[in-house]
Amino acid sequence: MEPTLQVTLAGMTLANPLLLLSGCAGFGEELTRIDGFDFTSVGAICLKGTTLNPKEGNPPPRVAETPAGMLNAIGLQNPGARHVVDAILPRIHNLPTRFIANIAGSTVEEYAEVARIFDNSPVAAIEINISCPNVKEGGVAFGSDAIMAARVVQAVRQATSKPLITKLSPNVTDIRIIARAVIDSGTNMLSAVNTYMGMAVDWHSGEPILGNVQGGLSGPAIKPAALLQVWRVHEVAAPHAIPIIGQGGIASARDAVEFMLVGASAVGVGTALFHKPLIAGEIIAGLKDYLVTRGLDNPSRLTGRLKT
Ligand SMILES: Cc1cc2nc3c(=O)[nH]c(=O)nc-3n(C[C@H](O)[C@H](O)[C@H](O)COP(=O)(O)O)c2cc1C
Repeated sequence: MEPTLQVTLAGMTLANPLLLLSGCAGFGEELTRIDGFDFTSVGAICLKGTTLNPKEGNPPPRVAETPAGMLNAIGLQNPGARHVVDAILPRIHNLPTRFIANIAGSTVEEYAEVARIFDNSPVAAIEINISCPNVKEGGVAFGSDAIMAARVVQAVRQATSKPLITKLSPNVTDIRIIARAVIDSGTNMLSAVNTYMGMAVDWHSGEPILGNVQGGLSGPAIKPAALLQVWRVHEVAAPHAIPIIGQGGIASARDAVEFMLVGASAVGVGTALFHKPLIAGEIIAGLKDYLVTRGLDNPSRLTGRLKT
């Protein structure tokens, strides 16, 4: 039996359960310049984080290599939501995959405004990145405060009828508390997890390596920690049938299967794209083989099937 790879997440149908993650695939256009890149090999592409106004991002250096991973502090460099919707999306939206907006803001109102702009665009869904500092509330990260996280999701929910994905931060004491708050506020899906906060130091100069001093750690280094977070989020998401897009260090079909077993309905690949831009095709081929070997007709059969 030939398995189908198609998945439907909260009403959003994707050709397969593999997404390219925000910040690791630009605005999709960059991929058209990669020899052999096949848009049909990815279920969806999450666009670079977008704010209301254009942002130049943080001072360089913005990335640093770490054992089995990388640190980044890009600072949400982007051309602003209007430009993405008016100038970029018309050029890419006919490519044979789906696009998901990734939005950020420094106030609740800004999140809602950016969502309103994307509401009138061909994106399949809106992913809310709640790991940005909230300047109005004194620098508390939206994603680490259940009340603020809920406010953002409620405001965005009112601003758009697109399916909503809330992207959870792992830099919290108990991710389930935030997951519960955003589910109650109307998110349709969850992304778990964003990067882990970290830093790097130059022992010659005695200075921090990143211009921003601290950054987000991603790649295989975070995989075991991310798996545990997805497993925890699944505990609160499953009773509400809220799909999880699992992510954090995925670099093979085996990694993808592991994330699905702990509760993900789809998976995302980010950092691995920087050294292997064609990795999506490999992961999808490997996932298909895995399903065939086990006589499973759809990747959804793996979701939450961890044997404990
Ligand atoms: C260079 C870089 C830029 C990123 N930019 C964003 C962003 O704009 N919005 C966002 O929600 N996540 C962003 N992320 C986080 C990724 O989308 C992803 O959640 C995280 O890196 C974990 O997956 P990975 O280990 O496969 O990279 C970025 C990650 C990297 C490495």
